[in-house]
Amino acid sequence: MMSEQNKVEVHWHEHSVVREERETMNGNKGCVIWFTGLSACGKSTIANLVDHKLNALKKHSFVLDGDNVRHGLNAGTGMLKDEHGEEFAKRFGLGFSAQDREENIRRIGAVAKLFAESGIIALTAFISPYRMDRDRVRKTLQVGDFIEVFVDAPLEVCEKRDPKGLYKKARAGELKGFTGIDDPYEAPLSPELVLDAAVKSAEQLADEVIEYISSKGKI
Ligand SMILES: Nc1ncnc2c1ncn2[C@@H]1O[C@H](COP(=O)(O)OP(=O)(O)OP(=O)(O)O)[C@@H](O)[C@H]1O
Ligand SMILES: [Mg+2]
Repeated sequence: MMSEQNKVEVHWHEHSVVREERETMNGNKGCVIWFTGLSACGKSTIANLVDHKLNALKKHSFVLDGDNVRHGLNAGTGMLKDEHGEEFAKRFGLGFSAQDREENIRRIGAVAKLFAESGIIALTAFISPYRMDRDRVRKTLQVGDFIEVFVDAPLEVCEKRDPKGLYKKARAGELKGFTGIDDPYEAPLSPELVLDAAVKSAEQLADEVIEYISSKGKI
């Protein structure tokens, strides 16, 4: 009979082989590409371009963005319609308080980690303004799995773009606690990649991301 100790070792070994096998099958390594930056800096645009480019290369990736997270995993009050749903959202849904924002990022990080461990390139596109929240996600991942990408565009540029009219609302006082206006954005201190999003096109920036992960042997 196998000793308890051996069982544990076999189990652990099996698990590590599974990830490698998945990655071999997928033709790419799993990782988390974590885009961070002010609203309208270009996170969603670039993440989706990278996703399309990877898809064209037959690599496996998935974008986690406001829409598929805020309306599902972190659905807040009012986002789930029926009576049972409302109650559920009140108990487990997330709003925009400091505590909820922190929990929002923690959950996204946990999901992105599962993608990475299953051999998929997770692309997350959230403002994620607080350094501590991002660093906490980094710590939960294996070294090299967390690729922090600072989408760097100054506030003036983002505010001029303002495709959702959010800056306008924030300036008018209709939106409280808006990042860059009356809530801070803490830029990463040592991100894996900085994208000059005020000057270069989203297409060029997506190529820079592809080049980076290629240089790191992810694809
Ligand atoms: N490099 C770029 N140069 C010029 N315009 C850009 C660039 N990247 C994105 N844009 C434009 O800026 C606007 C905002 O982009 P996007 O929605 O990707 O920002 P975001 O960072 O995801 O914002 P949010 O945090 O509000 O979701 C869009 O109209 C997009 O077309
Ligand atoms: Mg976006």
